[in-house]
Amino acid sequence: MKVLVTGGTGYIGSHTVIELQQAGYEVIIIDNLSNSNIEVLDGIHKITGQYPIFEKFDICNSQDCNNFFSKYKGITAVIHFAAYKAVGESVEKPLMYYYNNLVSLLNLLDKILSHNINYLVYSSSCTVYGQPESLPVAENAPVQEAKSPYGNTKQISEEIIKDTIHANKKISCISLRYFNPIGAHPNGFIGELPIGEPNNLVPYITQTAYGIREYLRVFGNNYNTHDGTCIRDYIDVVDLSKAHIAALQRMLVHKNINNFEVFNLGAGKGYSVMEVVQCFEKVTGIRLKYKILNRRPGDIERVYADPQKANARLNWKATTSLDNSLLSAWNWEKYYRKKLNC
Ligand code: NAD
Ligand code: UD1
Repeated sequence: MKVLVTGGTGYIGSHTVIELQQAGYEVIIIDNLSNSNIEVLDGIHKITGQYPIFEKFDICNSQDCNNFFSKYKGITAVIHFAAYKAVGESVEKPLMYYYNNLVSLLNLLDKILSHNINYLVYSSSCTVYGQPESLPVAENAPVQEAKSPYGNTKQISEEIIKDTIHANKKISCISLRYFNPIGAHPNGFIGELPIGEPNNLVPYITQTAYGIREYLRVFGNNYNTHDGTCIRDYIDVVDLSKAHIAALQRMLVHKNINNFEVFNLGAGKGYSVMEVVQCFEKVTGIRLKYKILNRRPGDIERVYADPQKANARLNWKATTSLDNSLLSAWNWEKYYRKKLNC
């Protein structure tokens, strides 16, 4: 069965391609490499023994999309990862974010309709919940006003998909709201490749440990949490990837017709920034330099998932410990840096 993976050379996409191949799906990737590297395909091949089909183009380009869908017939489902994702950058360049994240989705939906593809898995984010009133946060918690253009693109995208499904009875979509994806494939050949200075906590930690950054900036220690630092639900990227296969299988097996479902993908446990730092130090034996800085604008104090819906209906559960996720992230950082130097 052919599955199209947009953004398949990116961080979560590449890990999902591996799970798809290992589950026997034929994978076709579209990626314009705006935030990833073609060498990811070699990493995938090293792990699975297979190269996925790869087409490089911008999904915002409608003509390129038409050419693609004329070339590849018989695609059963689409997993749509391709998007820009840097929250801070989206505040500075909102139009770039609205254009890329929404036009790509519109184009894709248009082609999905004209080529009779019925199943879509969409990459959403827990950012849609803002600071929830009660925790853990379940899927029925209200979506709150987005704090950034990036967050808004996720909310608008879910609305666009819902309306499309409403008007086209054969289509179904599962929107997966990720909490904080971290870690790398345990085989060590693929992982997160932040371009420039990382925004997210774990790549900043591993780059600091490797000596690329002088120290970790801990953004605020005066929050109303047990140690004053923010709390998040860190979900291992391999666990996260497996949920995409479960979502796909749910739609295929149940022959889901005209359904829009959302699922929280988190481990269901919150860790503070300092707990992550301490855990990293424990598993690697490295003392991490850090400084407490002011709060980062827009940060939410605490958020973690109630993943029971995904546990029950997708038959999926996050199983990787924070220790192992941080270890895999560290192993990937070392592997990648050595590779760059040779
Ligand atoms: P990523 O940047 O590593 O991967 C996205 C990929 O999409 C990149 O390879 C990029 O080159 C490609 N891309 C972007 N725009 C494109 C376009 N117009 N045409 C073709 N290719 C394009 O990001 P990721 O961390 O793997 O995230 C994947 C998805 O998950 C995104 O939609 C993101 O918003 C969502 N998400 C990520 C996180 C996270 O913490 N990583 C959390 C919540 C949601
Ligand atoms: C951010 C986005 C979220 C997006 C996700 C993936 C915001 C408000 N949210 O989540 O919408 O889906 O990234 O890209 O930006 N931290 C430090 N030092 C650092 C980096 C982070 O202390 O150098 C802290 C942050 O203050 C936060 C925690 O670590 O408390 C996690 O931060 P991060 O990894 O950036 O993820 P989120 O902010 O949760």
